[in-house]
Amino acid sequence: MAFLDSGVEPIRRQRGADPVRALDADIDIEPARHHFDAAFVREAIRELKPVYAKVERVIPSFEWAAHAPYIKAIRDLKREKNAVILAHNYMTPEIFHGVGDILGDSLQLAKEAAKTDADIIVQCGVHFMAETSKLMCPEKKILIPDPKAGCSLASSITAEDVRALRAAYPGVPVVTYVNTSAAVKAECDICCTSANAVKVVESLGAPRVLLIPDQYLARYVATQTKVEIISWKGACEVHERFTGAELRGYREAEPNVKIIAHPECPPDVIAEADYTGSTAGMIMWVTDHQPKRVVLVTECSMADNVAYAAPKTEFTRPCNLCPHMKRISLPKILDSLLYEKVEVTVDPAVAARARLAVERMVKLPL
Ligand code: 13P
Ligand code: SF4
Repeated sequence: MAFLDSGVEPIRRQRGADPVRALDADIDIEPARHHFDAAFVREAIRELKPVYAKVERVIPSFEWAAHAPYIKAIRDLKREKNAVILAHNYMTPEIFHGVGDILGDSLQLAKEAAKTDADIIVQCGVHFMAETSKLMCPEKKILIPDPKAGCSLASSITAEDVRALRAAYPGVPVVTYVNTSAAVKAECDICCTSANAVKVVESLGAPRVLLIPDQYLARYVATQTKVEIISWKGACEVHERFTGAELRGYREAEPNVKIIAHPECPPDVIAEADYTGSTAGMIMWVTDHQPKRVVLVTECSMADNVAYAAPKTEFTRPCNLCPHMKRISLPKILDSLLYEKVEVTVDPAVAARARLAVERMVKLPL
């Protein structure tokens, strides 16, 4: 394994210069308090019975009664406005199964965004995912229910940092994890996701590659390839909290437990895993193997979402929530669709270059 920290320090920047964090100071949308009359609530509960069947293992019926009218109102509005909802695997189950049309990991969402013929896309995920959808469908209206839904990886690096890396490593191609702003993507050669990072790195045919910004994903990729990987110091605030010791504890308590981990986890965690892969890869592993007991080493909601497809599997969760993903809620989605906000835009000059990086990835025969 050839792995090297780039040694390049993040360039100090003025507060507010970060494309994701800058939004913290800007718009906030407080969800309006919607009132649904009793007849609408009863109709929603009746109409959504097949949906509840998918989540009854994880959502008690009294809680469902509060979700159902929102879900019905959102579904009705989607039809009226020719809108689709892209829901990442980390969305809560009432969003994922209740209102999501296109479900998946970052790669699946990016690819499917390009194919939809809807006029409006509501991105139930974080800001960089909405920007990626905008890159893939510049003519569509892309909405995010809460623009503060950022990502610790995306905010760990700026376009200026990438330029400094290029100056420090002239001629070395730069692969950016999709968890970055469009401005960062615009400075890079090609994009990757956790589902295809090894293949993207190898597709370049170079002996050394800068793989930014996740140091743990970069370390994991370095174990899977002969290409020398040079990394940045970013980390996912959710996955970096897991430890190998914690997982050994689960295995001691239940020797047959299967441990599956996301590659954003630190190396001692991945060393304990029976399988490592993207969120979609993890879901596929569980549904294919239907293990008796599994530990999903990732964001909490994934286990709730996959429970339906793995009815006999028991999920033991070291539960870490992504505070950014959890900003997305049914009331905010309803507001987003009703008032068509908050629209995500990307500067056309930046978008043209960032799109190239994403399209290069999508076009690879992986
Ligand atoms: P996936 O592409 O595997 O869904 O990962 C996205 C992410 O943000 C994980 O933390
Ligand atoms: Fe970013 Fe981590 Fe949240 Fe994924 S889980 S969106 S990488 S902070």
